[in-house]
Amino acid sequence: MIILKNLVLRRSAKVLLDRASITITPGEKVGLVGRNGVGKSTLFGLLNGSLHEDAGEFSWPRQWRLAQVAQDMPETSQSATEFVIDGDTRLAEVRAALTEAETRFEADPDDPDAGMAIAQAHADLADAGEHDASARAQALILGLGFRVDELDNPVDSFSGGWRMRLQLARALMCPSDLLLLDEPTNHLDLDALVWLEAWLKSYAGTMIVISHDREFLDAVTSVTLHIDNAQLVRYGGNYSKFEEMRSEQMLLQQAAFERQQDRIAHLQKFIDRFKAKASKAKQAQSRVKAIERMEKVAPMLASADFNFEFKEPRSIPSPMLSIAGADFGYVVDGEARTIVRKVSRSVLAGQRIGILGANGQGKSTVVKTIARDLAALSGTITEGKGLTIGYFAQQELDVLRPHDNPLQHMTRLAREASAQSREASGEQVLRGFLGSFNFSGDMVSQAVGTMSGGEKARLVLAMMVWQRPNLLLLDEPTNHLDLVTREALAMALNQFEGTLMLVSHDRALLRSVCDEFWLVGRGAINAFDGDLDDYQIYLLEEGRRLRDEARTGRNAAGTRAKAA
Ligand SMILES: Nc1ncnc2c1ncn2[C@@H]1O[C@H](COP(=O)(O)OP(=O)(O)OP(=O)(O)O)[C@@H](O)[C@H]1O
Ligand SMILES: [Mg+2]
Repeated sequence: MIILKNLVLRRSAKVLLDRASITITPGEKVGLVGRNGVGKSTLFGLLNGSLHEDAGEFSWPRQWRLAQVAQDMPETSQSATEFVIDGDTRLAEVRAALTEAETRFEADPDDPDAGMAIAQAHADLADAGEHDASARAQALILGLGFRVDELDNPVDSFSGGWRMRLQLARALMCPSDLLLLDEPTNHLDLDALVWLEAWLKSYAGTMIVISHDREFLDAVTSVTLHIDNAQLVRYGGNYSKFEEMRSEQMLLQQAAFERQQDRIAHLQKFIDRFKAKASKAKQAQSRVKAIERMEKVAPMLASADFNFEFKEPRSIPSPMLSIAGADFGYVVDGEARTIVRKVSRSVLAGQRIGILGANGQGKSTVVKTIARDLAALSGTITEGKGLTIGYFAQQELDVLRPHDNPLQHMTRLAREASAQSREASGEQVLRGFLGSFNFSGDMVSQAVGTMSGGEKARLVLAMMVWQRPNLLLLDEPTNHLDLVTREALAMALNQFEGTLMLVSHDRALLRSVCDEFWLVGRGAINAFDGDLDDYQIYLLEEGRRLRDEARTGRNAAGTRAKAA
């Protein structure tokens, strides 16, 4: 059992949990939810031992094995498969024991202990599932959307988002009693997400998952822990059930609050009337006490609304861009790798394009090329006069500098902008602007590196709005954002007057802001005529096709290997 008792958790001056008491029983599947920055990831820090409570008690069974996704970007030339196998800590230990015994044996072949140790290690390896470790690892890797021909590629040849998927696979590979997942769906697209849901449903241990994705939480959890106002409350249901119970509870609490306010007003009236009267002074006094003794019901704070809008663009060129006979892709070791061929399309003023495509087909490549992060391999991209691109690539939050604070980020932006437009902006203006993005007085001077995922994403959004773009290129902008902020983003996008190009696995967002779709697949970009339901069907079929291809490809590779 995991037990928190009167637990207090602080980060610098912020009290994140104030006397939280909670029990989680073995085998429970728990969703940990709450607004950006309430302390969900920090609570994980407590559970995995990297942080300590500031007061109160915390305990969990010491014999439990913990699995979690490492947050750092792995840098290694190990193959993807080996990297994931190493996630199986038990297997890794036994392998290490074997190597050690073998070294001893080589040093002294007559050492009887060494011989024994080798035999023992081989037995342990069998127990630890050595024989099918590679198959298990590959099932995880493929499930998370990698292609068969990528299984042996070195980890550092993958992009950031894909390396995080490998970290996830590695965590799932680890035999565990407690699995901690902090927003595991952020780097996944639809088919990998569906696969992960199925995997987690059959996980036997205790699981706690942080997520802002309602559908995902509903699919994999049956208990919800909610952090709000430094209180941690447990609800016995999945996310939808939690929302239902919470709104009921809010109504009840609001009613109780109003009743109490009536009663206080009534008592107060009596006090006001009689406090000056000697004969009634005592009664009045006892009513003052009654009010003081009352356990005050808090009013329901309407959770702080958050809204923002994009500024009206200074100009709207049309066409925004025209792409003529362009090939998109990467240059690796001086060699061009084309992902999408012969693109000839124009992007016009006011278009709202959703960019669709299965895993790894090149959606991000297309967006990066238009954002000038990558050069087109051939052909031309002509930009309209006055084109100002607002590019949001959340997977690489590297537009942010971890040691600088939000105000420093904005000051830098404002300086660059004023060099172009001669509009200077003072600190007060910048503070006000940050305030409108919910960065309060203290937060404007907090180092970005210590901020929560959602807070960073919100800052990137704010910086983009400041630049007053006329073309928005958004690549998975809702990752890390809580539901309220996502809704605010959808509203702002709907009112945006420029052109929008959006990659997202958030179907609700695509549906509400895009009115045409491009499909990136099989090396080309085509207009997609259907709606999102058709797209879902397309994805399933495409997934099947790719798997079939992979299978025949693998068979061919297998035959080659045997022949060799
Ligand atoms: N070292 C630190 N110094 C100051 N504040 C910190 C530090 N570390 C975290 N915080 C603050 O503590 C709060 C909780 O952070 P945490 O990462 O736990 O939030 P979260 O609930 O996981 O949010 P998100 O949904 O955005 O991931 C945030 O407001 C964050 O800015
Ligand atoms: Mg977090």
